[in-house]
Amino acid sequence: MKKNPESSWETSSSWYDKIVGVKGHYYHQMVILPGVLRILAENKVPKPHLLDLACGQGVLSRHLPKEMHYLGIDASNSLIQSAQKEARLPTHRFLTHDLMQPLDLPSKNFTHATCILAAQNLPDLTPLLETARRHLLPGSPLIFVLNHPCFRIPRQSSWGIDEKKKLQYRRIERYLSPLKIPIQTHPGERGESVETLSYHLPLSSYSAALKKAGFYIDSMEEWCSDKKSTGKMAAMENRSRGEFPLFLTLVAKKN
Ligand SMILES: C[S@@+](CC[C@H](N)C(=O)[O-])C[C@H]1O[C@@H](n2cnc3c(N)ncnc32)[C@H](O)[C@@H]1O
Repeated sequence: MKKNPESSWETSSSWYDKIVGVKGHYYHQMVILPGVLRILAENKVPKPHLLDLACGQGVLSRHLPKEMHYLGIDASNSLIQSAQKEARLPTHRFLTHDLMQPLDLPSKNFTHATCILAAQNLPDLTPLLETARRHLLPGSPLIFVLNHPCFRIPRQSSWGIDEKKKLQYRRIERYLSPLKIPIQTHPGERGESVETLSYHLPLSSYSAALKKAGFYIDSMEEWCSDKKSTGKMAAMENRSRGEFPLFLTLVAKKN
């Protein structure tokens, strides 16, 4: 790959590698990985081959059943190197590639694909979906885990408290407009702030892009945080946490 694409997490790679670690960050461990592994198990096939799109430092690969062959792809070469260092099995491979560019792998027999917490970091869904379509077998699932696009729009959604009703509500300021939102992740080595980019799309744009690329949505799941508050705000915080899911998981299947 010639140059890091703007959306790559190369400049945030050491920070991200550290917060994810070998096992995953809190939500990987408690919510996302258990959910994705269950969906993979529900779609069990003989000789499974998984294509993990924008795999980061390969956290999913370290939780898969042994029989599952794996290829993880990401634009950040440092994250791919970290994934390779932690790789447990010779059937797990990793590749540095900008998913906004066409990719033609020799294998067209992938039985599953995933894109975990990453579709919203890509400027365009079309090339990503084209790569998935080209390499998956018909009927195979493509599992997207998204920060919930209806309730978690960076800079355009927040919690508020209605004192009269004694409840915590979610305030949404923008939803239908596609947005490109820079997010400061952490201070860099020289104290400058390092940014990643988030691309917001409404739910209907995911459905339209999947349909255009030759997929249908088989199921949707909404996953809440499992955290519990204590103290005098606990009842209202626990209730709103259970009302507004953090993650939306789309299971699309190739026609
Ligand atoms: C939030 S991280 C998620 C990584 C991993 N799936 C996980 O759950 O830890 C988003 C990833 O998208 C990758 N990414 C962003 N733009 C990309 C592109 N154009 N091609 C490939 N990967 C890209 C970043 O480098 C980063 O690793």
